[in-house]
Amino acid sequence: MAKTSEPGAEAWVPETSEIEVLAHAANGCRGCELYRDSTQAVFSAGPSDARLMLVGEQPGDREDIEGKPFVGPAGKLLAEALDAAGIPHDQAYVTNAVKHFRFEERGKRRIHKNPGVTHINACHPWLEAELAIVKPEVVVALGGTAGRAVLGRTVKVTTERGHALEGGPDGATVFLTTHPSAVLRLRGEPEFDEAFDGLVRDLARAVAALT
Ligand code: URA
Ligand code: SF4
Repeated sequence: MAKTSEPGAEAWVPETSEIEVLAHAANGCRGCELYRDSTQAVFSAGPSDARLMLVGEQPGDREDIEGKPFVGPAGKLLAEALDAAGIPHDQAYVTNAVKHFRFEERGKRRIHKNPGVTHINACHPWLEAELAIVKPEVVVALGGTAGRAVLGRTVKVTTERGHALEGGPDGATVFLTTHPSAVLRLRGEPEFDEAFDGLVRDLARAVAALT
């Protein structure tokens, strides 16, 4: 788990055994500057006693507006992939490494900007608190940012995807796979089917690791 001595979310994370309390408190977080330009904190979705936890990167434009994770196009693709992997998508607990939307303004549009390591570290206490409540058996990190948040190190998706990884949170088996947005970008291209199947295959392996 990534630990940091820099200022971060720690001071805003309440002691609680309820996800709803965390979710509410995250709106008051000033652990990094991302709260300033975004609409609201986007916390998690799914049952707090789920055995499978999925960690994404950060909310996108739609999620920032609606206040819920994975409600945009990437979320739809992820739900399809989970269902194809043999687990109803609403049985997984879904969250993000970073809870506020980072973007750049281009005219009227808000363009997604990758969160930096400082944002991932600052936001990490929220993820730790979620892990302590949900106590998932299996954690799937979706992409490199999530991989860093979950494992506390740089990850390489191409070589580390699809098998159980060491060094995850207590008691959890960690899997890494591609981010659904990366698959979505290939829609309409010849590579799309292979990328989607790869995501489903990795998710199916994670599902198979549930006892
Ligand atoms: N991408 C993510 O990583 N998380 C979301 O909630 C939406 C898109
Ligand atoms: Fe706090 Fe995370 Fe939002 Fe930064 S991104 S203000 S650390 S909740």
